[in-house]
Amino acid sequence: MKIRESGMPEQDMWETFFDPHAILVTLGMSSQTVDVAEFGCGYGTFTFPAAQIIKGTIFAIDIEPELISMVGDKARKQHLNNINPVLRDFMADGSGLPDESMDYVMLFNILHLDNPAVLLAEAWRILKKGGLAGIIHWNHDPSTPRGPSLAIRPKPEDCMRWAESAKFHNPSRYDLKPYHYGITFMK
Ligand SMILES: C[S@@+](CC[C@H](N)C(=O)[O-])C[C@H]1O[C@@H](n2cnc3c(N)ncnc32)[C@H](O)[C@@H]1O
Repeated sequence: MKIRESGMPEQDMWETFFDPHAILVTLGMSSQTVDVAEFGCGYGTFTFPAAQIIKGTIFAIDIEPELISMVGDKARKQHLNNINPVLRDFMADGSGLPDESMDYVMLFNILHLDNPAVLLAEAWRILKKGGLAGIIHWNHDPSTPRGPSLAIRPKPEDCMRWAESAKFHNPSRYDLKPYHYGITFMK
């Protein structure tokens, strides 16, 4: 099932809210990163910059057929053969990726879902030991131009608690101005 309040404004507006390449580098993605799983790729805002940074494949998972076909079409046009768009409900069916197969898992603007423990457990399962989980989310601030309602919007402390309960360690926290925070954890 689609997670609550997971709609986005038009792509042009959505993409004014971030500097995706800078965010990915800040959150530890590099040319040494091999395979990546992205939970909820949306328009591919972070998928395309990630594909250009890493040396392996990015598995870009989303439940929306139009978004998956849009990301696939754009990847073909740009000859980015290392983007693998995956149409899948990751809450109902998991990622479908093997245990301990990924170097990095992206949880971007997604942890306002009902049951974050389920997604963090799946992220833990597919990450290699020493792999990174990167989280970004909207600041818990009513003046942000978008974002889920404050009642369900996670604070950095919530993400820290959930990730530590899922056995992640080594948290590092970042201020991703103007509207977001980021946290990385290690498996
Ligand atoms: C708020 S958007 C964030 C998109 C992207 N991570 C970004 O930050 O630009 C959330 C995305 O998650 C997808 N999504 C929601 N529930 C899902 C589910 N159960 N399985 C797979 N994708 C899901 C939505 O279709 C949407 O594209």
